[in-house]
Amino acid sequence: MAPWAHALLTEVLQPGGLAVDLTAGNGRDTDFLFRLVGEHGRVLAFDVQEEALQATASLLEQQGAKIRSGSLKAGEPYAESGIYLVHDCHSRLTSYLSEPVPAIIATLGCLPDSDTAFATASPSTLSALRAALELLLPGGRLAVICYVDPSGRATEAEKVQQLFAGLPPEYWDVLHFSVPNRQVAPTLLVVERRPR
Ligand SMILES: C[S@@+](CC[C@H](N)C(=O)[O-])C[C@H]1O[C@@H](n2cnc3c(N)ncnc32)[C@H](O)[C@@H]1O
Repeated sequence: MAPWAHALLTEVLQPGGLAVDLTAGNGRDTDFLFRLVGEHGRVLAFDVQEEALQATASLLEQQGAKIRSGSLKAGEPYAESGIYLVHDCHSRLTSYLSEPVPAIIATLGCLPDSDTAFATASPSTLSALRAALELLLPGGRLAVICYVDPSGRATEAEKVQQLFAGLPPEYWDVLHFSVPNRQVAPTLLVVERRPR
């Protein structure tokens, strides 16, 4: 699903722009956002795992990105171009950021082969996604990739879908991508704030 999510965000993110990765993980989504905004843009990348932020920093440094500060603290400025790593729960998004954002991504679940104790969980995920919706610029997009576990449980994915299904269509367009020819597959939800 990542290439589809990236394709849909590519349409709304310009060089020099601002983007948010709600789940930095190994840094692949942050790296994609950085390639779009370029050296004059800014990306804020959240993760609760220090090692995920280290992996993201090392990947982005290899791409020539400037990593700003060890980790951004709530209320600190983030006006300079570069990658800002945020070691905090994504539900606290608005403690860090208050300006409109054109592109936000969240790849839910946990890192491959890592401790499932660090998997995303519905309560904080839903708070983060509500905050992300508030911050979206008109015409901006939020892409959420939801994984289901091998037993097919999709609780978090269902809750995300319910949240987005309840958005008033006058203000929001919601797309839902699924893979009907696989029993267990991620889904992608993309929300666009309708341009005024
Ligand atoms: C599937 S991975 C993300 C993959 C990543 N986007 C990439 O491109 O490599 C999910 C990440 O979400 C992080 N996470 C879990 N709960 C979180 C929370 N409440 N706030 C921020 N990050 C969280 C995990 O630590 C994990 O690194």
